[in-house]
Amino acid sequence: MSIVTNKELLDRAKAGHYAVAAFNTNNLEYTQAILTAASELRAPVIVAAAKSEVDYMDGYVFVSMVTCLADKFGIPVGIHLDHGPTFEETIRCLHYGFKSVMYDGSFLPLEENIAVTKEVVKAAHACGVSVEGEVGVIGQAADGPEGRRHDMTGLADPDECERFVAETGVDCFAAAIGNAHGLYKRKPELRFDILAELEKRTSIPLVLHGGTGIPEGDLRKAITMGVSKINFSTVMRKGYIETLTATLNGSPGELDLMKLLSPGKDRMIEIAKEHIVMCMSDRKA
Ligand code: 13P
Repeated sequence: MSIVTNKELLDRAKAGHYAVAAFNTNNLEYTQAILTAASELRAPVIVAAAKSEVDYMDGYVFVSMVTCLADKFGIPVGIHLDHGPTFEETIRCLHYGFKSVMYDGSFLPLEENIAVTKEVVKAAHACGVSVEGEVGVIGQAADGPEGRRHDMTGLADPDECERFVAETGVDCFAAAIGNAHGLYKRKPELRFDILAELEKRTSIPLVLHGGTGIPEGDLRKAITMGVSKINFSTVMRKGYIETLTATLNGSPGELDLMKLLSPGKDRMIEIAKEHIVMCMSDRKA
């Protein structure tokens, strides 16, 4: 069986000093690209979907699609809910067959975030599913579809992170350390001082969101400091859309949808490979 929990993937990554790349998806070409790239590099990989992406694909279809492709490629693959917005939406993904869920209560006061995350952990662990939590608010680098804005980003407090991890029992957690989702308007300044504190005070794998646009040197430094999962989404969508646009402009009258979509898929394979190498997870499957 190629589908594994994020706990298995991330514990191994932390011990091996690399990070597992987690790519969001919302369709077949996108998912094929992620798994083709990971398989060609013999890398473990996480295929993730946020609520809007789960709704778009249908949760059961998403899990079946990733499971079939993972079996075909024979590499360890995680199936993950990214930013579960409520207890109910997160728990629904256990029913679909996800192997890992993130509950994002970072907008709540810490007490409430801890209380709901704890309930999610209880239910998910009963089903053998890993849980990721979030502390501090990882906003949007630019206003984005998730409705989060740059000015909503709030750095994680190491005291709160320590308490959150100890009280909730999450398997890994994401902390806001100067990272943001989407295209950064200026070079991101990661707070390695906060990361160092988090590594010192917690023993579980750390997750870095907003991987698009973070320089390779910073990603690698973060990995040496306990980051074991790095999320990438915008960079893949951007590459796909740019290539699709060029293909459409260069193929007037073409009605074979497969011919129009394939170059975008090939571009996403290249991008996914570049980011897997940045995570140093190639040849770790
Ligand atoms: P980017 O879109 O900035 O790569 O962030 C992805 C992410 O963190 C998904 O949770």
